Amino acid sequence: MNNENKQYEIGYTQGTYDLFHIGHLNLLENAKKKCKYLIVGVNSDELVLMYKNKKVNITDVDRARIVGALKVVDEVHIVNTLDKNLMYSKFKFDAIFIGDDWKGNERWKNTEKQLGKYGVKVEYLPHTDGISTTILSKKISKNKREDER
Ligand code: CTP
Repeated sequence: MNNENKQYEIGYTQGTYDLFHIGHLNLLENAKKKCKYLIVGVNSDELVLMYKNKKVNITDVDRARIVGALKVVDEVHIVNTLDKNLMYSKFKFDAIFIGDDWKGNERWKNTEKQLGKYGVKVEYLPHTDGISTTILSKKISKNKREDER
């Protein structure tokens, strides 16, 4: 991807990326269109269990390998926190990307305020409707039940 005329030098985005799907790919591709260097934080298994109260299907090590293998991803880290201030102190990004399904969420409004102090922009990118890890998990369970009949 041509890095000329990109809005940001370093971009950061963070997610779980369990059962990697087209919504994830769209988000990461759109993020890379806006920055020269894209760093992705992959939520650790323990973090997902803590904040979503969910067990992942694919381990963090494997999720990070899959995300890291994409040509739009420059660097990947397994992360243990949702604290974007902490992530900023580590990676010093110019913008942070998230799907626009999170727009208006209290935690993200806070992130906008906190990171705004350092001139970091929160960019909400178009969410891909009709697909999610939750939808896929349900489909897989439904198909399994139907197969067993
Ligand atoms: N995302 C997106 N479009 C989708 C699903 C996710 O743009 N259809 C974005 C989210 O906004 C986030 C990133 O992809 O920026 C990682 O999302 P994640 O929570 O890992 O995936 P979901 O499929 O939303 O997972 P779940 O069903 O567990 O909420």
